[in-house]
Amino acid sequence: MKFFIDSADIEKISALNEIGLVDGVTTNPSIIAKSGLDFKNVIREICELVEGPVSAEVVATDAEQMIIEGRELRKIADNVCVKLPLTMDGLKACNQFSKEGIPTNVTLCFSPNQALLAAKVGATYISPFIGRLDDITLDGMDLISDIRMIYDNYGFETEILAASIRNVNHVKQCALAGADVMTAPPDVVEKLSTHPLTDKGLSAFLKDWKKTGQTIL
Ligand code: G3P
Repeated sequence: MKFFIDSADIEKISALNEIGLVDGVTTNPSIIAKSGLDFKNVIREICELVEGPVSAEVVATDAEQMIIEGRELRKIADNVCVKLPLTMDGLKACNQFSKEGIPTNVTLCFSPNQALLAAKVGATYISPFIGRLDDITLDGMDLISDIRMIYDNYGFETEILAASIRNVNHVKQCALAGADVMTAPPDVVEKLSTHPLTDKGLSAFLKDWKKTGQTIL
């Protein structure tokens, strides 16, 4: 499973990238607004830092403008992936970008049928939102499993990019359900490495090692 970081925080992306845990980055207008940074500048900086795809979202609502905005975003760097909303206009723009070989991430997906449409128009990634379905007491993970089955039934190449990941359990469940990619905020990725028994075990090993009076170097 590929790991994308859902953030515009350069320092945090960079730290995780050095560990080898960043296959790409996703942003959305809310993340950009929260960062307080200039949209194009921050996307440029992330694209220089990370080799993989960096999703930058259009804000137009009609297909023609979306295509113009997407082309503008693609001028920033070769690894910009144009993020489009799952609307009929977004699908139309996606279809155009597919014909041009421009990578796309179709976002705000909340149903298997929406995911089917995105695959039909050749989306590179489909972003089902797990946490937001959980928020309204539905099971976000069912959506991932349903999309997996539909895509496998027909051999669609669109990658399932599980988004709106809020906790480490979501990550495990997405991996079990066969999501191709998950995108999560840096703190969720950091938490994946922690376990109280790891801490306890390490502290016991170090204590016992000290008793030997030996050194490795
Ligand atoms: O990039 C989209 C996404 O991951 C949104 O997450 O937590 O705002 O639902 P959230």
